[in-house]
Amino acid sequence: MTILQPKKGRYQLQDYDNTKRTFEWDMVQEQFTWSTTGKINAAYECIDRHVKEGKGLKTALLYSDSHRDESYTFDEMKNATNQAAHMFRRLQVKKGDRVFIFMPRSPELYITLLGAIKVGAVVGPLFEAFMKEAVKSRLEDSEAKVIVTTNALLPRIPIHELPFLETIILIDGDETHTPPYYSFKKEMKASSDDDSAIEWMDLEDGLILHYTSGSTGKPKGVYHVHKAMVQHYQTAKWVLDLRDDDIYWCTADPGWVTGTSYGIFGPWLNGITNVIRGGRFSPDDWYKTIEKYHVTVWYSAPTAFRMLMAAPKETIEKYNLSSLRHILSVGEPLNPEVVKWGWDVFQHRIHDTWWMTETGAMLICNYLSEPIKPGSMGKPIPGIKAAIIDNEGNELPSNEMGHLAIKTGWPSQMRRIWNNEEKFSEYFSIPGWYVSGDTAYKDKDGYFWFQGRNDDVIMTAGERVGPFEIESKLVEHPAVAEAGVIGKPDDVRGHIIKAFIALKSGYEPSDELKDNIQTFIKSELAGHASPKEIEFKEKLPKTRSGKIMRRVLKAWELNEPTGDLSTIDDD
Ligand code: PRX
Repeated sequence: MTILQPKKGRYQLQDYDNTKRTFEWDMVQEQFTWSTTGKINAAYECIDRHVKEGKGLKTALLYSDSHRDESYTFDEMKNATNQAAHMFRRLQVKKGDRVFIFMPRSPELYITLLGAIKVGAVVGPLFEAFMKEAVKSRLEDSEAKVIVTTNALLPRIPIHELPFLETIILIDGDETHTPPYYSFKKEMKASSDDDSAIEWMDLEDGLILHYTSGSTGKPKGVYHVHKAMVQHYQTAKWVLDLRDDDIYWCTADPGWVTGTSYGIFGPWLNGITNVIRGGRFSPDDWYKTIEKYHVTVWYSAPTAFRMLMAAPKETIEKYNLSSLRHILSVGEPLNPEVVKWGWDVFQHRIHDTWWMTETGAMLICNYLSEPIKPGSMGKPIPGIKAAIIDNEGNELPSNEMGHLAIKTGWPSQMRRIWNNEEKFSEYFSIPGWYVSGDTAYKDKDGYFWFQGRNDDVIMTAGERVGPFEIESKLVEHPAVAEAGVIGKPDDVRGHIIKAFIALKSGYEPSDELKDNIQTFIKSELAGHASPKEIEFKEKLPKTRSGKIMRRVLKAWELNEPTGDLSTIDDD
C-alpha cells in the first residue's frame, strides 16, 4: 500500500520536526497546580480544574449500557468524586494505600477511581472478567486495603484469605450491610461534596497499579506516579488531537492501561467530553454508539477493527458515521489491510500508536499532520528517544532488526514493579535504555516497524496474557501432568492461546476432557485466558532444568524447524 498523505488542516501537532527539536517536558507541567503550589493531584487536574476555569456545565461523561443512559457535567463529576473522596477518608484510606476497583464499566467505576486518587490512594483497576485466582493473586501481591465491587462479583474475592483487605464497598449494597462491607450509596449520601478531602501529592507519589503479564512468573504490578499525567495530557493533545468541542470515545476497559491512560486521564486532563459504553462488543452496538453521540475521535484496537471489517457490509451502511474525524489504534500490529478498509469505509486514515503498560503512555505514533506508512507504528513523540539496539546497547543502522528500546526518563515511565525489584531491573539491563521486549526496525525516514515479541508474551484480541499463569493453572487440573502455552497466529485476534498438554497416567485424550479443561481455566482465571485450542501430547519438550521449551512448541505449531534441541531432556 502506498503512503497515505495527511489531509489539509490545522492540528494540535502541526509541525512534528520542529516540535521534536524544541520541546521539553518541563514546559507541560508548568500549567498545572504544581507550578504555583509545588503539589499536584491527577484527579483534581482531570475534573476540578475545568470547573475552576468556568467549564462546570460542560458534559464530562456520556455513559450508556443496555440499562442506563446518563450524562454528567464536570460540576457533577467534581461533586461526586469529592463525595467518594470523603467516603474513602471516613473508611480510613490514607495516602499510598491500595484501593482496588473490580466492577463492570459504570459511572460509579470512574467516580470511585477518581475519588480514591483524590485521597492519595494508589488505585488498582481489575478487569471484571477475572475469576477468583486472578483476583486473589493481584490483591495479595499489592496488599490491597479496600476493594470496590458489586454483589455479583463478590464470590470471586476470597476475603478470608486476604488479611490486608479491610474494607469492601458494594456499589449495589444496601442499608443492611455491616463492616467490613459498606454500601456505596449509603456512604456517598453521608459524604460532603466539598474539596477538603483532596490530598496534595508530589509528582513522584503513586497514582495507579496495573497488573500485566510477562513471560515468566506471576502478573507484575506496574506502578505509575502522578507525574505520568504530564504525558497523558500532552499525548492526548498531540496524538488524539483533542480539542474543546470533541466527543471522544476510547473503547478500552479501565482494567487495561489504555482504558485509564486514554479512557480517563488523557481526555479529562484536556477537559474533553468522554463517551463510555458499557456491555459487550457488537458491530451494531459500536456503530450505533458513534452515531448516537456524534463521536469525533475514536481510539480502539486492531482486533475490534478486524471484527468490524468481518461484519456484513449492510451493517455499517445503516449508520451515519460522518461525525468521525480521527481514528486511532493500539495494542497489536495494525495490518495494512485494516488501514485500507478504514480508508474505504470511513474515508479516514487509522493512526497506529505503540506503547505498553510499563511505558504508561504513547511513545511511537502516527500523527494527523504526518504521512502514514500502513503497517508502521509511526515515529517517536517529541520528548522521547526511541532506537533499535543490539544486546550491548549499540544503535543499529536503519532497516536492521533489533530490540526496540527507549532512552530512560520520560514522565510516564513506570517507577517500580510492585514487590519485585528484580523484575523491574530486567527492563533496564542495558544501561541508559528501557528495553521493551519487542523487536522492530526503523526505516530511513525514521518510521518504526513492529516485528514481534522476543519473549513468550501472548497478545490475544489486544489483551496481554502470560503463558506462565495459564500453565500454572492448567497443571492444577487433575488430569494435567504438564502444560505449555503459546500464541498461535489468528486472522481476527492476532493470536489465540494454544495449550499443549501431557496427561497424567490413567487419563485419555478426548473432546470432553478438552472442554472440561477449558471450563476450568475460564472459571478460575478468566475467559480470555482460556486456551481456544488444546493439543494432547505424550510428552512436552523440556530443558535439562525442567523448563518447558515454548520455542519448540511454536515450531511444532508452525511446522518450522525446531532449532537447537541440545538442552532438551530426552531420557
Ligand atoms: O508487543 C507490543 C504490543 O503490546 C505490548 C504491550 O502490551 P500492553 O502492556 O498490554 O499494552 C497494550 C496497550 C498499550 C507491546 O509490547 N503492542 C502495543 N501496541 C502495539 C503493539 N504491537 C504492535 N503495534 C502496536 N501499535
